[in-house]
Amino acid sequence: MLEVSVTRKVLEAEGICSVELCAVDGSPLPPFQAGAHIDVHLADGLTRQYSLCNDSRERHRYVISVLKDPASRGGSSAIHEQIEPGQTLAIGAPRNHFPLTPAAKRHLLFGGGIGITPMLAMAHELHHQGADFELHYSFRSRKRAAFIQLLGQAPFASRVHLHDDSGPQAQKLDAATLLAAPAAGSHIYVCGPLGFMSFILDTAQAARWPADQVHREFFAAAAVDQSADTPFEVQLASSGQVFHIPADRTVFEVLDAAGIDIETSCEQGVCGTCVTRLLDGIADHRDQFLTAAEQAANDRFTPCCSRAKTPRLVLDL
Ligand code: FES
Repeated sequence: MLEVSVTRKVLEAEGICSVELCAVDGSPLPPFQAGAHIDVHLADGLTRQYSLCNDSRERHRYVISVLKDPASRGGSSAIHEQIEPGQTLAIGAPRNHFPLTPAAKRHLLFGGGIGITPMLAMAHELHHQGADFELHYSFRSRKRAAFIQLLGQAPFASRVHLHDDSGPQAQKLDAATLLAAPAAGSHIYVCGPLGFMSFILDTAQAARWPADQVHREFFAAAAVDQSADTPFEVQLASSGQVFHIPADRTVFEVLDAAGIDIETSCEQGVCGTCVTRLLDGIADHRDQFLTAAEQAANDRFTPCCSRAKTPRLVLDL
């Protein structure tokens, strides 16, 4: 946990603000990699993850950019309405579940809406490396798009392609053409709202991009029909204790209430914080953190949201 000062807050576009965070004593912050996020600890025990969007070679600050979500569960509205310059905030050290692939020959970055944030840090890093990349930024309208000016003035501006959904057809994102030919060494990175993510990921899959060349980071969980959920058991490998998981409670909720320590953050299956080794049983994966191949391997489990296809799961806890 780090204590940082809010040194700047800027309205970037309609409903989007950026917040600059510096060490309270002005010392360098822990380094981060492009694609990394931080946990921001807000009032009332809320913790939210935000991608770092500044140049990862900067050590004096972290910058996050936050969309005010009308369906906010408290995080984005707290950032927009309660956080002001001069305040201190508690944050977690940067963690990266969305890294660039160092060996890639070419990088195709797709940011949708506020999903531009990790792409900005990635574009800075790829520019420093002299790497071959394109940044495609799709947004609903210019007034709701952050960083248009910054991208136009960036040293990598010639690699940026803007796609305004409310603009002329010719400039709209043509993912089918861009992704038509998977090439060895080319890697796709995508972040944005669920519909945008599905559009890019489905297009890549239809064009037969190998799964290990497609990287994604979800901000929010897809809705899951829980009406047919059934109870199951979880056994802890260390103690042999068995817990009954009712149909309307998560593994995390049950174990947490019993005093079993599991670190969580998003509690909706997108951040990976709670991932636990699965030793026996078959998981009913509900997360969007593990890839399809990782879920099929059936050796990891997200207790915050996933359930069981077998009567009992044995977890490495
Ligand atoms: S807490 Fe984020 S995936 Fe479980």
